[in-house]
Order: sequence, then structure tokens, then C-alpha cells
Amino acid sequence: MTELPAGIIDTLITKAHEMQQSSYCPYSGFAVGAALLTKEGRIYTGCNIENAAYSPSNCAERTAFFKAVSEGERSFRALAVVGGKNREIGELCFPCGVCRQVMSEFCSPDEFQVITRDSTGTTVIRTLRQLLPDSFEL
Ligand code: THU
Repeated sequence: MTELPAGIIDTLITKAHEMQQSSYCPYSGFAVGAALLTKEGRIYTGCNIENAAYSPSNCAERTAFFKAVSEGERSFRALAVVGGKNREIGELCFPCGVCRQVMSEFCSPDEFQVITRDSTGTTVIRTLRQLLPDSFEL
């Protein structure tokens, strides 16, 4: 696993926390923000967007990916995610299984890194392979 450039982890966490403020989460009250770093160094952000019918809801991570992919991005380096009640950083927030599968479509399992941080500042970094071992491939 190649080390991320100095300072980028804090930058991504800060942007993810900023994005938490845009979360639309009237049903769960659980606000999530994500910041996705491309290999060229651009950052795309996303928040969770809930729906009264529940199943159309979208996670913060997928919002960030779909924004980036729809702008033509295809190569990604890392993603930071934070979540919690009251739009604050709470416990460590790891991506759900659906979001991990979306990552596996675009990201190298041993290079792509997922970062999360809790309210105490504890930071955990996992490769995509650690989060989604033995992933499906055609
Ligand atoms: N959620 C995310 O946005 N990302 C995750 O990694 C886990 C869950 C959202 C979905 C829903 O809007 C809320 O958090 C509570 O599950």
C-alpha cells in the first residue's frame, strides 16, 4: 500500500466533515460526508441523500463516486468518510457493502484506501481489498 501524500488525510477528513453539513437525512438523522481523491489530485465530495420511500436513498460515498464518474473521472486514490448524529463526527464510519461494490468497479483493491475518523481523532485506513475481499469480477 503506497503512502498517501502528507496532509491529504486531514484535508479529506475536513472536506468530508464539511459535506456532512449538506446531508439530507430527515429519516435517520445520521449525517454522512465523503471526500474522494482522484489520482490527479482532484477532490469530489458527497453526502447521504434520503428519501421518504427509503430505498431510493443514496449513501455519501456513492454520491461522491457518481459525481466524479459523471464528470469523466475514472481513476481514484482514496476516500474519506465521516458520519454521526447532529451533523457531527461520531463513531468510525465504514462504507456499506453496496458502496464497497461500487468502489470495486473503479478502484484498484490494493491501492485504493478508505479513511475514517471518529470524534476522538482515531483514524483508521483500510485498503479496498481489506474491506471487500474476494470481490466479484466478470
Ligand atoms: N450511510 C452512508 O451515507 N454511508 C455509509 O457508509 C453508511 C450509511 C447513510 C445511509 C442513511 O442515509 C444513513 O447513513 C443511515 O443509515
